[in-house]
Amino acid sequence: MTEDFGVIIAAAGSGSRFGGRKQLAVLAGRPVLLYSLDLFAGVPAVAEVVVVAPAEEIELMRSIVRDWEAERLQPACGRRTCAAPRVVAGGDRRQDSVRRGLVSLGGAVGFVLVHDAARPLATESDVVRTMDAVREWGAAAIGHPVTDSVKEEREGRVIRSLDRARVWQVQTPQGASRELLERAYSSPASELHTDEVSLLEAAGVTVRLVSGSRDNIKLTHPADLDLAEFYLARQRDRGPK
Ligand code: CTP
Ligand code: MG
Repeated sequence: MTEDFGVIIAAAGSGSRFGGRKQLAVLAGRPVLLYSLDLFAGVPAVAEVVVVAPAEEIELMRSIVRDWEAERLQPACGRRTCAAPRVVAGGDRRQDSVRRGLVSLGGAVGFVLVHDAARPLATESDVVRTMDAVREWGAAAIGHPVTDSVKEEREGRVIRSLDRARVWQVQTPQGASRELLERAYSSPASELHTDEVSLLEAAGVTVRLVSGSRDNIKLTHPADLDLAEFYLARQRDRGPK
C-alpha cells in the first residue's frame, strides 16, 4: 500500500430524474464525464482512475475516454507513470457500481476517493482538501451546511425542526483509506446507501466533513444543466472558488 489515491468515478446511473444519462449530457460543448477526468488528471496524488459505466454503454464510454486520452498532452493522472483511466461495468444501485470500481483497483493504492460523474464543477481545491482530510482522519467528505430551515417529516407533518447549523449537505469527492472503504463495502448491503459516508457510518467509521465549494452541484434535474453552465462560465471568468 502507498500514499497514492485511486479514484472511482461513479458514472453508471440512468439519470431517471434528469431524463437520460446526465454523465453524457453536453456542458459547454463537452460530455459532463470529461470534467471529472480533467479534474483528477491535474492532481499529483492520483495514481489510478476507474470510471464505472452502465454495462450496456460500456463500449461508448470506453471510446469517449479513449478520445479524451488521445486529445491530452499530459498523462491521465497526476503521475507520469499512471495508466489511462479504465472503464468497468457498474451495477443497479450507486453502491453496487462503486463496489465494482473498488474491487477493480490496482494493488498499490492506499487511499480511495469516489466522485459522482454528475458533479462536473468540483474544483481541485475540493479534491485536495478531501485528500488531506482522508490522510489525516481516515475518512472524509466534502460538503457544506444547509441554508434553508430543515424539518424531519412524516406523512407531510413536521416531526422535528433540526438545527440547520449542524445539518450539512454532503457532496463528492468522498473517500477513505482503502482498508476502511473496503470494510464498508465488504458485504452487499440490502438497504440503500446514496453515498460512501452512509456506508462508512454503518461500518462504525467516523467521517470528517470538509467545507467545499458551493458550485459543486449534482446534475439531478434538467434545469441543473443551465445552473452548471452558469457556474462554469463564472469559474472560467474568475478562476475556481
Ligand atoms: N451512479 C452509478 N451507478 C448507479 C447509480 C448511480 O454509478 N447504479 C452514479 C451516477 O451516474 C451519478 C452518481 O452515481 O454520477 C450520483 O447518482 P444520481 O445522482 O442518483 O444519478 P442517477 O442514479 O443516474 O440519477 P437518478 O437517481 O435520477 O436515476
Ligand atoms: Mg440515482
